[in-house]
Amino acid sequence: MQKLDLSNKRVLVTGASSGLGLELARQLARDHKAHPILVARRRDRLEALAKELEGVGAKPELVAADMTRPDDRARVFNETTEQAPLAAAILNAGVTYFGHALEQSAESVDGLIATNVSAVVDLAVRYVAYFKRRGDGGGLLLVSSMASLQPMPYQAVYGASKAFVTSFGQALAEEHADDPLSVTTFCPGGIATDMIESAGMGEKYNKNHPMVMGVEPCAKLALDAFVRRDRVYVPGALNKLTALSSKLAPMSLVTKLVARDYREVLPKR
Ligand SMILES: NC(=O)c1ccc[n+]([C@@H]2O[C@H](COP(=O)([O-])OP(=O)(O)OC[C@H]3O[C@@H](n4cnc5c(N)ncnc54)[C@H](OP(=O)(O)O)[C@@H]3O)[C@@H](O)[C@H]2O)c1
Repeated sequence: MQKLDLSNKRVLVTGASSGLGLELARQLARDHKAHPILVARRRDRLEALAKELEGVGAKPELVAADMTRPDDRARVFNETTEQAPLAAAILNAGVTYFGHALEQSAESVDGLIATNVSAVVDLAVRYVAYFKRRGDGGGLLLVSSMASLQPMPYQAVYGASKAFVTSFGQALAEEHADDPLSVTTFCPGGIATDMIESAGMGEKYNKNHPMVMGVEPCAKLALDAFVRRDRVYVPGALNKLTALSSKLAPMSLVTKLVARDYREVLPKR
């Protein structure tokens, strides 16, 4: 199959109000000459970004929506596919929780699973069916994480949600291997965004940490892998090495090492 050509095409980006999603939208407009469709809850941020993207010649659209709400997800799908063709979709919106699993509230667990898992399955299935119907080489990018590659003590529900996404993305790609579409699962390590800060991990995991990537290079590598139609992509040499080591080492050891690292930044009880 040919590379994904995003030039002058409409491309959905969820979680476009901040961090990786915002940077993906920027690079889609600037470097790929695409027209991003911006989705998140914070409309004011989407409006500011849309204005910026118009400045580089894009025709952005925005849909304020909450990924935890099934009716909002249906609306996003309808609004992005009914009026004009959609070439590609990036499901990037996500939330985390850092701390002891027993201290994460039921509300937070439900919100995390709805955003990171239910919304991804719901929209992925809708868009893959849509791309298959159109038959013109659509692409779906799922933003997962290296947290999907082993258990994540102190980000237990988040790690499990991303393990779901990486497994689901690869399975979906294989089910549609003979169809004119691609499903790419992107697994970054740490990225210097609000997510790390608001989870309370920023003191250690900031842009000076060797395992934390800047958002610009991370977004570029994500879009390169997406355009190449890679099945799974881990960005950065150090991340690739870490991913390989965690595959080769006993899972119990890798889990202990993650826990040891995270205990250093856990809020003191
Ligand atoms: N930062 C990292 O170290 C890291 C590492 C690996 C993978 N990732 C993954 O990268 C993706 C982007 O994260 P980020 O680091 O860029 O975090 P971020 O800066 O906190 O951005 C998260 C985005 O998701 C949106 N979002 C969250 N809940 C939502 C909801 N219920 N409905 C709609 N949108 C929602 C937010 O928008 P609103 O709040 O405006 O709705 C925001 O635009 C996530 O899937 C994350 O798991 C991050």
